[in-house]
Amino acid sequence: MSTFRIRNYRFTLLFIFVLTLHASPEDWRIALCISENPTRQMNVAWRTEIELDTPSVQVVLNSPLAKFNETPVVFPAATEIVTLSDSSRVYAYSGAMKNLHPGTSYAYRVGGVDSWSEWLVFTTAAESTDNFRFLYFGDPQNGLRSHVSRAFRAGYKAAPDAEFITMAGDLVSVPDIDQQWEDFFHAGGWIFGQVPQVPVMGNHAYYVNRTWGKVYSNQWRPHFKLPENGLESLPETNYYFHYQGLLFVVLNGSEQLDEQAVWLDEVLSREKSVWVVLSLHQPLYATGDGRDGERQRTAFLLTIDKHEVDLVLQGHDHTFGRTYPLREGAPVKKRQKGTVYIVSVSGSKQYKLNPKHNGLFEITGADTQFYHIIDVESRKLILSSYSVDGVLVDELVIKPSKMRQ
Ligand SMILES: [Fe+2]
Ligand SMILES: [Fe+2]
Repeated sequence: MSTFRIRNYRFTLLFIFVLTLHASPEDWRIALCISENPTRQMNVAWRTEIELDTPSVQVVLNSPLAKFNETPVVFPAATEIVTLSDSSRVYAYSGAMKNLHPGTSYAYRVGGVDSWSEWLVFTTAAESTDNFRFLYFGDPQNGLRSHVSRAFRAGYKAAPDAEFITMAGDLVSVPDIDQQWEDFFHAGGWIFGQVPQVPVMGNHAYYVNRTWGKVYSNQWRPHFKLPENGLESLPETNYYFHYQGLLFVVLNGSEQLDEQAVWLDEVLSREKSVWVVLSLHQPLYATGDGRDGERQRTAFLLTIDKHEVDLVLQGHDHTFGRTYPLREGAPVKKRQKGTVYIVSVSGSKQYKLNPKHNGLFEITGADTQFYHIIDVESRKLILSSYSVDGVLVDELVIKPSKMRQ
């Protein structure tokens, strides 16, 4: 083979390689994300290894017609260059689909010139307080490809009509290992592109930087586009949104707890929604062996009790536990309003149970992967806990607080 032919051959291989990278939107890690106003706006984030030309999001009304996609509305996407731990660069995009109609089904796709994802479908939140359900998972973190995939799929199979998915932190174990994010998005697949994501930040999103100390990984924000209506110093890790009669609040359980407690008190003081659900990674009452939860209790318990928060979704302890309704650290009497706390895990890492708060928990479990469905209705909230094989292990009906009626 002549030198010319070898060069040509190499060029062709490189060309095919580049085309392959562009033509692999299944590896783009598309995450449909909740916005501050899900009746009117949905966010999306994705990433590529070769920079897209004119990255954007196309949106159309969903329809059964084959020509449903002829006149999309186009929203430009922002590009962020992310440097990975091996010094390679990837391109992260985020876009907002705005001016949507409430309770309406849309199809969207992401991409750039000549390179697009498939059309993915979602529905905006209704303006009314119609019943709805959402999915909650505890820490994925470990066994992402091998174990967590079955938890996500089992949850979705049980509740394909879930209107969003929340995960209570530690989505991956080492946030700077890009392969872990790859595995995480493999486990979620197209479900993440169709059901709005509500991720909570855990301690495993942090790493120690020689200059700045403990900071959260530069891999967190590019993978999502989340509301920035919490503390300015905790963008996209402390936020809230309203969804059909529910206020959902996400706290960062790792840092600035006292500042967030003040913020939480302000948010809840003006709240009129029937339901308030709160999520933070580190539990107030630890279920994991050797743990306590005192730091989070000291920061948030008074505010949670004051505003009669209905339900607190947590992770971190790699076990399962659901408390009785509690107030001031003790089970309430029958017919009194209390707050229910739950800890869960969806990944393969499992801890031993902690007997420390046994008197507060009505049910606990270990060595098992779980998913949870929360049905939000006008007069009751139903918390259903399933092991990953689809067996219902716990069901609790929560009545609303009289404070917000
Ligand atoms: Fe954790
Ligand atoms: Fe964890």
